[in-house]
Amino acid sequence: MISLQTKLSNLVLSNPTILASGILGETAGCINAVAKSGVGAIVTKSIGSVPKEGYPNPTVVELEFGYINAMGLPNPGIDEFEKEIIDSISCGVPIIGSIFASDETEFTYLGKRMEKIGVAALELNLSCPHAKGYGMEIGIDPEIVRKIVSKIKDEIRIPVFAKLTPNTHRLIDVAKAVEEAGGDGVVAINTVKAMSISIDLKRPVLANRYGGLSGPAIRPIGIRCVYELYEALNIPIIGVGGIVTWKDAVEYLMAGATALQIGSAVQKKGLRVFKDINNGLRKFLEREGYSAVNEIVGVAHELP
Ligand SMILES: Cc1cc2nc3c(=O)[nH]c(=O)nc-3n(C[C@H](O)[C@H](O)[C@H](O)COP(=O)(O)O)c2cc1C
Repeated sequence: MISLQTKLSNLVLSNPTILASGILGETAGCINAVAKSGVGAIVTKSIGSVPKEGYPNPTVVELEFGYINAMGLPNPGIDEFEKEIIDSISCGVPIIGSIFASDETEFTYLGKRMEKIGVAALELNLSCPHAKGYGMEIGIDPEIVRKIVSKIKDEIRIPVFAKLTPNTHRLIDVAKAVEEAGGDGVVAINTVKAMSISIDLKRPVLANRYGGLSGPAIRPIGIRCVYELYEALNIPIIGVGGIVTWKDAVEYLMAGATALQIGSAVQKKGLRVFKDINNGLRKFLEREGYSAVNEIVGVAHELP
């Protein structure tokens, strides 16, 4: 019997697949439906302290190898969203509450609200590439990140994961700041800053001009980030970026990820993607003579 069970701090997942933030994690109806798909955990849409409309359309460009989105973090705010979590908290899989804020006080306020509602863990969005004053604008500065994680860890008990941006040369400095401040894990990566131009309209496609690239195009960037982080950190790494098949999942695990998030592939393949990846993983592990998924975490580092 192959075990797919994995552990992130004190959070135990029945399998390593997690729904990434921003994809179907917006309402109780969606969260409850995703919970039945075989997924190991669900990350909610990133939630702020007040409602936010996001950018005008177009907000998404579909490319042959992924998407560029600039949603602008639209969300109903924590007061409204609370009801959605309450109605989905017993869905059978752990819910990880994603939050975004502009400083440590607002992050801590949101973290405490999420903890009180009953989420299993927190994910700090320190990495959205297209929201003014939020996300990567603060997430590329190790000292700001250290302050945020440290204050949140002082005030809440559930595990805290920091979601990092690849849009920096200071990835390791930021990740070390998370670890030193008591963070329980890092999530790598959020989308890669990108843009697309309509040659007919002779202008950028997205209303916001710039957005974040996701999907298979960014997998090699995600793999590189996870591989580097594994060499530098002792806390768990959650790999995300371009995972579509079980082979992509194995690649991330071998690079050093303990769990995996899947976003764009849910849009492309539907909810069956979680079961497909888990079935493929199980068969691969069996064929290779392993008995548990954790046995392949980081094996690509064991060079002669
Ligand atoms: C439409 C869309 C909305 C997203 N919204 C969020 C969000 O609210 N918070 C966040 O941390 N990441 C958000 N992301 C980023 C994803 O969670 C993920 O990090 C990224 O898409 C890479 O994974 P993928 O290639 O599997 O999609 C969003 C991505 C997409 C495509």
